[in-house]
Amino acid sequence: MKPTNNSTLEIISPKVRVDDDFIETDYEYQTSHVKRTASGQLQVHPQTTALKIRTGRQVPKLGVMLVGWGGNNGSTLTAALEANRRQLKWRKRSGVQQANWFGSITQASTVFIGSDETGSDVFVPMKELLPMVEPNEIVVDGWDISNLHLADAMVRAEVLDVALQDQLYEQMAKLKPRPSIYDPDFIAANQLDRANNLIKGTRQEQYEQIRRDIRDFKQRTGVDSVIVLWTANTERFSEVQPGLNTTSQELLASLKANHSEVSPSTIFAMASVAEGCTYINGSPQNTFVPGLIQLAEEKNVFIAGDDFKSGQTKIKSVLVDFLVGAGIKPVSIASYNHLGNNDGKNLSAPQQFRSKEISKSNVVDDMVASNRLLYGANEHPDHVVVIKYLPYVGDSKRAMDEYTSEIMMGGHNTLVIHNTCEDSLLATPLILDLVILGELSTRIQLRSAEKESAPWVPFKPVLSLLSYLCKAPLVPQGSQVVNSLFRQRAAIENILRGCIGLPPISHMTLEQRFD
Ligand code: NAI
Repeated sequence: MKPTNNSTLEIISPKVRVDDDFIETDYEYQTSHVKRTASGQLQVHPQTTALKIRTGRQVPKLGVMLVGWGGNNGSTLTAALEANRRQLKWRKRSGVQQANWFGSITQASTVFIGSDETGSDVFVPMKELLPMVEPNEIVVDGWDISNLHLADAMVRAEVLDVALQDQLYEQMAKLKPRPSIYDPDFIAANQLDRANNLIKGTRQEQYEQIRRDIRDFKQRTGVDSVIVLWTANTERFSEVQPGLNTTSQELLASLKANHSEVSPSTIFAMASVAEGCTYINGSPQNTFVPGLIQLAEEKNVFIAGDDFKSGQTKIKSVLVDFLVGAGIKPVSIASYNHLGNNDGKNLSAPQQFRSKEISKSNVVDDMVASNRLLYGANEHPDHVVVIKYLPYVGDSKRAMDEYTSEIMMGGHNTLVIHNTCEDSLLATPLILDLVILGELSTRIQLRSAEKESAPWVPFKPVLSLLSYLCKAPLVPQGSQVVNSLFRQRAAIENILRGCIGLPPISHMTLEQRFD
């Protein structure tokens, strides 16, 4: 079977069946369960579970609604979709540049598939593994507290080459953000001068308006499903308190009572969940208060976040994994950033910076906890994060990191990284991956193969599969947070492989190591 119509891949296996609606596989899921005995012994029980996994083959027409549509990321994504759709080319000083999706794992990365008869590795584009939404087909809409149309928003962002902007301007000028919810208590005071496109009324009325907007978008465009994604300014954390937002009932009551601690982003998430639309949080704030998570669980709607993992944190989640995995002990991590875009301006206010600091801080925890040979039970590397607003550098963010580690016999190793790049050109492909993988996840189900009557079950509503793309991954209660980038990527690859009846990548290559 070919997993997608234009795939170069064909799976030859009696365990994989395909009809018009589904790809279905018989899958042996192997894992190990560990029990701790009273004496501290670890008993490991290898387990094999017979499962069936099925993936819907009908790819819906996808609509994406961005909160913060007129920002750097929102305008850059919209421009990139259009530029790729039209396969635009433009002149730069260094030659002719063509639109692409570099930085997107679904569009620009490949997956190891196996070895051929000569022993050479064979890779296929990730997007050929399963039927996925085609970026050219995505319809975008959204909200912004600033009323600039998308062409002027793109110009304001100063991200894309002017020769590209010029080719897109006319088309993008037709796109206008819907009015949004502005609460100066949640984003920095320095955002006030762009807040001229607002939904008035109580929180309940604003919520109803967002729900109407989602329905209106669906109806006008004829999209089959909608994903709502927050790429608006970082908010301060909201308080979490019994009686306020710790259950779905409390949260709904607080919305009705127009409680001041119900943040704009939580209102968007509530509206999205109520409309049955996956909601993704690209910023660090705690939109997903416990009551919101409960709402998503009750309605069986996906939520995912938090905070795009685009630059410094992505490197950290690779480097610390490498160091700790190599038996080297990182003891001090200092991370400085300066940036001059509107995100940096908003983050120059203490409460909004605090949200980002929290999101960036926990990224090494699981890797440190994985190695008790290096770290005592409560021991952690020193870790500081500094962000400064420096208008001149614009979207070209600078991230400087110093990692000091202890090596053998009390020796030290210090690594220094200086990373310069356009922030929004790193974040935009992540937004694309989030919505494509988020949509795909709605079509994957599994069930036990042991009982014919076992029901098909979807992923849990807290969609941790998107952790690879998030700085502070939200995971279902009782699950472990995984920050390590390679583990996060392996989860995506292996689940996609499982959906087409391929085993997880083990890299054992026994066939090449033994005669
Ligand atoms: P931006 O400041 O250019 O865009 C944000 C937009 O949101 C602005 O147009 C603003 O008017 C709008 N906005 C603010 N509050 C709103 C509300 N309540 N409703 C609707 N619109 C609202 O920022 P940028 O660079 O696009 O980043 C967006 C978010 O993504 C920020 O929170 C940032 O921290 C987060 N992020 C960005 C990364 C990156 O660019 N590499 C990486 C990780 C996270």
